[in-house]
Amino acid sequence: MSLKNKIALVTGAAQGLGKEFTNQLLKRGASVSLIDLNDNVGQKTAQDFQNVFGQDRVAFFKGNITSQEDMNSVFKSTKDKFGGLDIVINNAGLGGEAADLWERTIDINVKGSIRGTLLAIDHLRKDKGGRGGVIVNISSMAGINPNPCSPTYCASKSALIQYSLSWARNSELLANGVRINVLAPAFVDTPLMSTITKEEYCLMPKVADMVIQKAGVMSVETAAEAMMELVEPEHNKNGQVLKIAQNGGKSYHNTE
Ligand SMILES: NC(=O)c1ccc[n+]([C@@H]2O[C@H](COP(=O)([O-])OP(=O)(O)OC[C@H]3O[C@@H](n4cnc5c(N)ncnc54)[C@H](O)[C@@H]3O)[C@@H](O)[C@H]2O)c1
Repeated sequence: MSLKNKIALVTGAAQGLGKEFTNQLLKRGASVSLIDLNDNVGQKTAQDFQNVFGQDRVAFFKGNITSQEDMNSVFKSTKDKFGGLDIVINNAGLGGEAADLWERTIDINVKGSIRGTLLAIDHLRKDKGGRGGVIVNISSMAGINPNPCSPTYCASKSALIQYSLSWARNSELLANGVRINVLAPAFVDTPLMSTITKEEYCLMPKVADMVIQKAGVMSVETAAEAMMELVEPEHNKNGQVLKIAQNGGKSYHNTE
């Protein structure tokens, strides 16, 4: 369905899922601000989208979701460029279990996504000058199913589900026109997949191989098209966790 005249901000948009979320939003008529800490790839991705969808509908702003200063700045730049904000996809995230990586996993997946959610709420809610809208936080099936390969990653993605669902039950937020949903995909064919079974990202690579075999690996298009259901106003989803796996299909998680 149409997202014509809507304005979206997507974190981690230079590649992988964030890039395809951007593509799906652009295809539906939205203008999109791509945020990523990878300047070179981010610029190139934005340029490619500009060539297809037009210079005016695409912008790239370098930003690290772990930095409050960066995030304040990219939200402001997005509004200055496009004149508003309706959709925020907190997608940037990664894995890492080793002694020198697990805190980064929490910093990015939990603290970075919370930072993005709080800014989105501030910019979207009607009583603060926004025009309402929707936030989608990108969790993972690992946030629902315990997995011996990656306890820190599982914990980070589980935290993001509870955080998002708790906000979704805030009646004040709903009254101010803000919906919040979660996508929980199993394995998706992105550059992140190449790290999953590496020692520093995975405590039990053989188990990870088996889990990947069982769940299958879906395309970014499959995951991103499904995610649009959480965004598009006509579905009016709030407080929903959409699970999707190549071999398991798509279903809503019971959050009662
Ligand atoms: N690929 C999968 O199998 C899979 C499955 C479930 C959930 N996810 C989740 O989907 C999201 C996207 O994953 P992906 O597979 O596309 O990963 P990816 O590594 O292919 O892309 C992630 C993008 O995020 C950017 N990024 C990383 N840290 C950042 C930061 N601190 N600030 C700004 N940008 C940052 C990277 O530069 C990169 O462009 C992540 O949250 C991931 O946990 C992925």
